[in-house]
Amino acid sequence: MSTQVDAIVIGSGPGGYPCGIRLGQLGVKTVVVEKGEPGGVCLNVGCIPSKALIYAAKTYEKLGHSADIGIMVAESPTVDMAKMQEWKGGVVKKLTGGVKQLLKANGAELVFGTARLAKGGSGGRHKVIVAGDNGETTYEAKNVVLATGSRPVVIPGFDIDQDKILDSTGGLALTDVPERMVVIGGGYIGLELGTVYAKLGSKVTVVEALPALLNGMDKDGVKLVQRKLKKMGVEIMLEAKAKSWTDKGDRLVLTVAAKDGSDVAIDCDKILVAVGRRPNSENLGLDAVGVATDRGFVVADKKLRTNVPGIYAIGDLIGGAMLAHKATKEGEVVAEIIAGHNEEMDVRTIPAVVFTDPEIASTGMTEEEAKKAGYEIKVGKFPFAALGRALSVNDTDGLAKVIIDAKSNEILGAHVVGNGASDLISEAALGIEMGAVARDVSLTIHPHPTLSEAVKEAAAAAVGEAIHIINR
Ligand code: NAI
Repeated sequence: MSTQVDAIVIGSGPGGYPCGIRLGQLGVKTVVVEKGEPGGVCLNVGCIPSKALIYAAKTYEKLGHSADIGIMVAESPTVDMAKMQEWKGGVVKKLTGGVKQLLKANGAELVFGTARLAKGGSGGRHKVIVAGDNGETTYEAKNVVLATGSRPVVIPGFDIDQDKILDSTGGLALTDVPERMVVIGGGYIGLELGTVYAKLGSKVTVVEALPALLNGMDKDGVKLVQRKLKKMGVEIMLEAKAKSWTDKGDRLVLTVAAKDGSDVAIDCDKILVAVGRRPNSENLGLDAVGVATDRGFVVADKKLRTNVPGIYAIGDLIGGAMLAHKATKEGEVVAEIIAGHNEEMDVRTIPAVVFTDPEIASTGMTEEEAKKAGYEIKVGKFPFAALGRALSVNDTDGLAKVIIDAKSNEILGAHVVGNGASDLISEAALGIEMGAVARDVSLTIHPHPTLSEAVKEAAAAAVGEAIHIINR
């Protein structure tokens, strides 16, 4: 006996659950299968808990500097990491509970278990077997959406035990602040979590294999982030590779092949490995039904179709920008397609944000990418130090940058580093999606005093019309 549905979504992360909700809204009979907790990595052990810890660490740091603005704290603030974790857990629980409610309210059924594709569906349907607590259930669905996400890459010799050697999940769950932490990988996760622990009092060292942190992000922005990391006491080793580690009982010793060719030994208490993520494409029955993969990633086209009709794939599983909001967009697009609408993943920009201090956000092309694509460019920059709002919230480390096509003035890219960059970037993303020119942004009235004025002024600066800085 099998249960017949119109669509099965495998995975309820930021790709799968919005897909399920939208399918429900569109009247498609849908089952969403989840083997862990609803919300996937993002809600449970990724985006949301990390932002909670980042906020907590920032609050602690601010308290340490409150005397600068005339607030005297009688005793030095201290950190209760266990309490912080409890609060973080509450935030996560609210959101995962919300996912369950939203799926239900929109008519999609959430089923717990491990799903795999199997041969032998009848009438052109796909067979999906779900192994749950009460044994196996067989479904047959016209459409299957694979949304199983990704997991951290493991470096040989650095097996994750979530005690001494941590991945991001372990890094988010510490109930004590380690005295010394080495972070392998100066990318998104390494720098976000490295910043958290540096602010909470750890001596942090970042070991990055490439010549720069946050490879691919705007260079001026990365410079500001790096400067602040150093100010916090974070040691940064570039062009350095972690080789091996030993447990000395009272400490770990990490051996790093440094830039100058020498081996450097670093004493520490925890090693956080954050060197990228790889797709969860194993044990899904892909071979059984002939779904094509490339280096582990499921191959999907602009309509998110795999090579097997009726089987779609979205999110980290298909690669590209491994970002929650990209997965969400793809989930929504697939839902429309399954409902019979003519949609495809047709976006001009996928914004990216790293929640370091300062935050660094990016949309569209960097200067290097624009030049490489053959554009003659003009660049407008506006420093937060010239922004009344930034001064009045005592947070002036920042810069907005707008890159335009010198011929048409069309916005090609925007990069914001600074307090609030994560929110400010959306205006520029809208601009790029709409084919806006610099003046579309600069002629729009922005409320004063706000951080959003930095984006307006950077757009104005790109055409030599900024008001609060001297135009070059
Ligand atoms: P990442 O790709 O951002 O950074 C990994 C870094 O590790 C790279 O700079 C790489 O050169 C370096 N690396 C690789 N092997 C190394 C080695 N043996 N020794 C030293 N360095 C080495 O990957 P990360 O930080 O693990 O994050 C994974 C993904 O998760 C990101 O690509 C991002 O898409 C996503 N993410 C997004 C966040 C956000 O949107 N704010 C936050 C956290 C993660």
